[in-house]
Amino acid sequence: MKVTVIGTGFVGVTTSAVYAKQKHTVVGLDVDEQKINSLNAGKVPFFEPKLQELVQSGLKSKKLSFTTSYQEAVTDSDVVMIAVGTPSRPDGSINLDYVKESAKQAAPYLKDDAVLVIKSTVLPGTLEQIKPIVKNITDKKIHYASLPEFLKEGTAVDDTLYPDRIAIGVEDDFAWEVLSKLHAAFKAPLVRVRPASAQLAKYASNDYLALRIVYANVLADVCEQAGADVDEVLEIMGHEKRIGSHYWYPGLGYGGSCFPKDVKALAAFVDEFESPERNLFRFINKLNVMRPADVVEKLTQVAGKLKGKKVAVLGLAFKPNTDDQREAPALFLIPQLLEKGAKVVSYDPMVKKIASEQIATHKHYEQVRSIKQAITDADIIVALIEWPEITDYKFKNNTDKKVIFLDARNQFDQQTIAKAGYEYLGIGRQRLETSN
Ligand SMILES: NC(=O)c1ccc[n+]([C@@H]2O[C@H](COP(=O)([O-])OP(=O)(O)OC[C@H]3O[C@@H](n4cnc5c(N)ncnc54)[C@H](O)[C@@H]3O)[C@@H](O)[C@H]2O)c1
Repeated sequence: MKVTVIGTGFVGVTTSAVYAKQKHTVVGLDVDEQKINSLNAGKVPFFEPKLQELVQSGLKSKKLSFTTSYQEAVTDSDVVMIAVGTPSRPDGSINLDYVKESAKQAAPYLKDDAVLVIKSTVLPGTLEQIKPIVKNITDKKIHYASLPEFLKEGTAVDDTLYPDRIAIGVEDDFAWEVLSKLHAAFKAPLVRVRPASAQLAKYASNDYLALRIVYANVLADVCEQAGADVDEVLEIMGHEKRIGSHYWYPGLGYGGSCFPKDVKALAAFVDEFESPERNLFRFINKLNVMRPADVVEKLTQVAGKLKGKKVAVLGLAFKPNTDDQREAPALFLIPQLLEKGAKVVSYDPMVKKIASEQIATHKHYEQVRSIKQAITDADIIVALIEWPEITDYKFKNNTDKKVIFLDARNQFDQQTIAKAGYEYLGIGRQRLETSN
């Protein structure tokens, strides 16, 4: 089967390489020539574990290639998959311009009975906007489908090779047959649904996971007031099968390229037919946006004024195992620390430069190349992202001064950090002073 994947970002490259591994002939297409040249040379232009090797083996087997030419990529393709970005507009709704533009560019080369699939995260109603664009350009018989992507950055290759389920939103049997054949090698349930259900299931899944994070944060605040420990509470809750112990992350809130965008998009969608006070998704977003300021406030209650204090921020990516900084907690935390007069020194194992010129050029900001450099002389250490390099680090306060250790993801043992000479501050945990 010949498959075209339009957009070679995290989703497009991973999807292309996995289909190629399964012996389909795959052409990845992007408007970014530099990206395409790099991919054709076997170099993935962003960090994603295992992906570069998979791309290289696809290129070697000749099952995978990349191009900037719509004609070359789309001609004779059985399946044309749109995997371009769907960023947020200022009101939170999604911008479909890239999706529409790709459909428009691909349309002249679509063959009869081609299946045009939207893999990008889009809301119900999107296919209805795409169809007239394509119909205006070609009179070929096109089948439309929605195939949302559920991969997670950091584990994208394994998530795509071994998915929990594949949601196939189709309008007719032909598209279903083609897409079930395309996914025949996957050992995952293929769930046939209408396109609107597939599209909404993607938002419903991400927004539910975001809700768990927000819930854990709200619970953490309650625990602090109640003299309880949020991890103990979550452990007890987790024994209940209806709840489970997975995916509880008290911290600075969710970030990344998907959750913030997908919560805001569903909120904007719900706004169209529901009153604001009934819009749960708006409230999830609001609580998450407030979170970094809440944590900074908590920090200042313990540390006093931040003016002139050195704060080491460890972890700039939005989570471990990625260099993606989209909506990373550091981008919200650091400006607030700088605003309060702190000097911020940051470190991340993979991020070479923080994705904010305003922060990067601030006179009280510096990014260094090791944890040791970052924490030397620090008054406050913020362990922000649970990179193994950070959680395995043997922290030790060799000075006489009081150093606060903010464990922003509750990854450290309180006693160990206190014994190492720090004043431990967790999320939803009781404060522990140094035991030195
Ligand atoms: N990143 C994730 O973890 C993830 C997971 C699941 C779903 N998604 C969804 O998948 C979609 C893609 O996300 P991503 O993170 O891979 O995006 P990305 O921003 O990393 O990549 C998008 C690519 O599309 C290209 N592009 C834009 N317009 C184009 C056009 N007209 N023709 C050809 N190429 C074009 C861009 O140059 C870019 O390389 C989004 O809707 C996103 O919400 C992302």
